[in-house]
Amino acid sequence: MKIVNNIPFGPDGQEVFEKIIAIWPPIIRDRKKEKIIYILSLLMQTRKLKTVDKNLVIEATRLVVPKSYDPIFHMIEDMDMFVKKMLDPFKDIKAYNKIPVQVKRWQRPPRKKTATSTTQKQVIAFCASPRKNGNTDLLIEEALKGAEAAGAQTEKIMLNRINMEYCIGCRKCKEPGFEQIYIIKDDMTEIYRKIIDARGIIVGFPIYTGRECAQLSTFLDRWDGFERYLLQGCLKPGRIAMVIGTWGYPYSDTYDHVIENIISVLHLHKVETVEALSACGFEGILHGLGPNRRGVLAQHPRQLKKAYEAGKAFVECM
Ligand SMILES: Cc1cc2nc3c(=O)[nH]c(=O)nc-3n(C[C@H](O)[C@H](O)[C@H](O)COP(=O)(O)O)c2cc1C
Repeated sequence: MKIVNNIPFGPDGQEVFEKIIAIWPPIIRDRKKEKIIYILSLLMQTRKLKTVDKNLVIEATRLVVPKSYDPIFHMIEDMDMFVKKMLDPFKDIKAYNKIPVQVKRWQRPPRKKTATSTTQKQVIAFCASPRKNGNTDLLIEEALKGAEAAGAQTEKIMLNRINMEYCIGCRKCKEPGFEQIYIIKDDMTEIYRKIIDARGIIVGFPIYTGRECAQLSTFLDRWDGFERYLLQGCLKPGRIAMVIGTWGYPYSDTYDHVIENIISVLHLHKVETVEALSACGFEGILHGLGPNRRGVLAQHPRQLKKAYEAGKAFVECM
C-alpha cells in the first residue's frame, strides 16, 4: 500500500492512477488530480474502504471527466477488446463491416402539444455533415420522411453547400432593430427567415475531434444574432427541435455531453428539443461510408426506422 495525497492506494490502484494522470499536460494535470482525489476520498468514506484499487480509480475518474474519455478507460480495462473494437476496423473491409452500428432515441418525459394549430407545420433541417448521403444525412432524410408522414412540409439545407461566413464578433446584431441581424451579406439572411417561419428545426452533425463539427459551430455562432441584450431573443418561443449526433466510437453515450450542449444552446434560444438521436459505430476505413461511399446506416433499416419514428413523433407534438 502506498499513500499519495492521503489516499491509501493498492498496487494496481496506484499504477492506474499514475497512468490516468499522465494523459493530461502538466498545466491541467494538478487540477484534474485534485478532483479525482476528492471523489476517491468521498467514495472511500461512503463505502468504508481501506484501500483504493484500479476499479475505484476508474470509477472516480469517470465521475470527473465526460464520457468521451471512454477510449482511455477501455484501453486500461481490456486492451485486447479495445484493439478488436477500435483498431481492427481500420485493417480491412471485413473487419470494418463487423462494427456494431447503433441508433439510440433519447427518452423524454411526455409532452403536451403547445396549441392545436391549423397553420402549416413547417420543418427545416440543417445537416452539418459535409457528406451528402453520409450517416447524418441519412438520419435526417429518414426523420424528414417521418415528419412528412405526420403532415409536415419539410426542407433540408446542407450547411456545407451554402455561403455561410464566420461570425465576425462585431456585435452589431445586438443593436435594436431586427434588420441589423443581416450585417454579414451571405446565405444566412435567407436562413434567418426560414428559422423564423419554421415550427420545427432539425440539427444533425457528426463529431469531429471530440466535439461538434465546425459547420455547426459556425451556424450556432451566427444564430446568436437572434439574441438581444440580457438574452431577450427576437425569436418567439414555441419552436421545437430534434438534435442528431453521429460518431465513430462504437458506444451510444460517448458524446452525450456534446448533444446535451447543443440542446442547451437551443434552449437558450427558446427552442425546446423534444427529440434527440445518437448514432454510433461509424468508425473504420471510410469513417462510416460503404464501398459505394454511402453511409453504412443504409444497410441497417431497423436502426434507420428509429429516425423515421422520431420524425413522426416530432411533428405530432407540434
Ligand atoms: C475530422 C474527423 C474527426 C473525427 N473525430 C471523431 C472523434 O473524435 N470521435 C469519434 O467517435 N468519431 C470521430 N469521427 C468519425 C465521425 O464522427 C463519423 O464517421 C460520423 O458518423 C461521420 O458522419 P457522416 O457520415 O454524416 O459524415 C471523425 C471524423 C472526421 C472526418
